[in-house]
Amino acid sequence: MNSLAGRRIVLGVSGGIAAYKAVEVCRRLVDAGACVIPVLTKGATRFVGRATFDALASERVRMSLFDEDDPIPHTTLGQTADCVVVAPATARVIGAYAAGISSDLLTATLIATRAPVVVCPAMHTEMWEHPAVAANIATLAARGVHIVGPESGPLAGGDEGAGRLSAAADIAAAVSRVLEAASRPPDMDGLSVVVTAGGTREPIDPVRYIGNRSSGKQGHAFADEAASRGAQVTIVTTVDRPGPPAATVVRVETAEQMSAAAADATADADLVIMAAAVADFRPADPAGVKLKKRDGVPDLPLEPTPDILAALGASKPAGQILVGFAAETCDLAHNAAAKLAGKGADYIVANDVTARNAGFAHDTNEVLVLTYDGRIHPIGLRSKRQVAQAVLDLVLADRVAQTAMQENQ
Ligand code: PMT
Repeated sequence: MNSLAGRRIVLGVSGGIAAYKAVEVCRRLVDAGACVIPVLTKGATRFVGRATFDALASERVRMSLFDEDDPIPHTTLGQTADCVVVAPATARVIGAYAAGISSDLLTATLIATRAPVVVCPAMHTEMWEHPAVAANIATLAARGVHIVGPESGPLAGGDEGAGRLSAAADIAAAVSRVLEAASRPPDMDGLSVVVTAGGTREPIDPVRYIGNRSSGKQGHAFADEAASRGAQVTIVTTVDRPGPPAATVVRVETAEQMSAAAADATADADLVIMAAAVADFRPADPAGVKLKKRDGVPDLPLEPTPDILAALGASKPAGQILVGFAAETCDLAHNAAAKLAGKGADYIVANDVTARNAGFAHDTNEVLVLTYDGRIHPIGLRSKRQVAQAVLDLVLADRVAQTAMQENQ
C-alpha cells in the first residue's frame, strides 16, 4: 500500500552540507505521489538553491514567516500537513524544536503542527555526541517525534564517524511507515466503494471542449483513503492520476461516459462518493471537424447532460450510502441543502469554491457536510486526504449507529 499517495508533506531543510541530499528526499516523496512543500531555513540556501526545490517539489519553497499570500503561513502549513519531515536537521533546529523556540518558518511550523514529525539529524560527530544535542533528541523522541539516523560514515571535511544523514530512500521509507501507522484501522474491510473524480469535458469540436477547473485531487483523496482503510475501490476519473493499488480505475471524459461507468460500477456498491465536477450542459451538436475562425463565432446550442447523482439517488439499492458534493460560490448551506433534498443523496459535502486555499485544484479544502437527518458538520481547512478521512469517519460512525439501532428493534 502506498501510504504517501495524496499526502501533504512539509519537507523542512536546514543549513548543513547534507542539505543537497534533501533534493533526493523531495524527489522520492513526489514520485510516490505525495504533495511536498519545501520549507528552507536561511542556512539551507547556503548549501542548495531554492530554485532546485521550486522545480522538483509540488509547491513553491516557503522561507518567510511573513508570506505575501498567507498572513500566517506557519499555522497553515502546520495544520494542513499530514507529516512534517526535517532532513537534514541541524543541532540548532533540533535544539529550537525541543525548547519550543520558533525563530523561523521551519521551527514555527514544527511547533504549530499536530501531524507526525520525522527528524533526520545530520552534523559532525562531536556535535551529535554533545550532551545538549543528545538530551534534545531524547526530549523529542519522548514526545513521539520519529528520529531517523544519523548513520556513521564519511562526513564533510574528510572526517569519519556518526552524524551522516540517512539515505534518501531510508528517509522516504520511514515517512511512509509513519504515515501508514498514523492512518486508520481497516474499518472499511469488505466494503465496496465507488468514487467519481475530476471534471468532465464536453466536446465542441475534435479539439475544443467545455470543461471546468477540477483537478481530481479531492476525489482521488477519497479513493486513497477508502483503500487504505480496506475498502475495495472503483474510481471513475477524468484525470491521469494513478488510483490506489488494487483499485479498479475507469478513465472517462464526458458526463455521458461517467454516467454509464457510474451506473455499471455502483449497482453493488455499499458507498458511492460523487466528488466529480460534472458539466451541467454540453454542446448539443458537436462539430466533426475543427471549427474555423474564418467562419465566424459559432452558434453553440447547449443541452443538459445526464444528472448522474440524481439518477443514482432515484434508483439507490437498500443500504447503499450516497454522498454527493455541492460546489458553490454563495449561500453554501442553503444551496447544498437544496441538492441534498433534490438529488436523493444521504450526504452532501458542500464546498465553497471561493474560499481561500479550498475547492478546485488546491491541495487543501474546507467543507460543510450536510446529513440526511439535518445535521451540519463543518470540516475546517486541511489536506484533501484529511477531508476525506473526516467525511468517511462521519459516514461510517452513522452506519454503525444505524446498524445498532436496527439490531435493537
Ligand atoms: O477536483 P479538485 O480540484 O480536487 O476539486 C474538488 C471539487 C471542488 C471538484 C469537489 O470538492 C466538488 O465540489 N465536487 C463537486 C463539483 C460539482 O459538480 O458540484 P455541483 O454542485 O455542480 O454538483 C452537485 C453534485 O451533483 C456533485 O456531486 C456532482 O458530481 C453531481 N452532478 C452534477 C452534475 C451532473 N450532470 N451530474 C452529477 O452527478
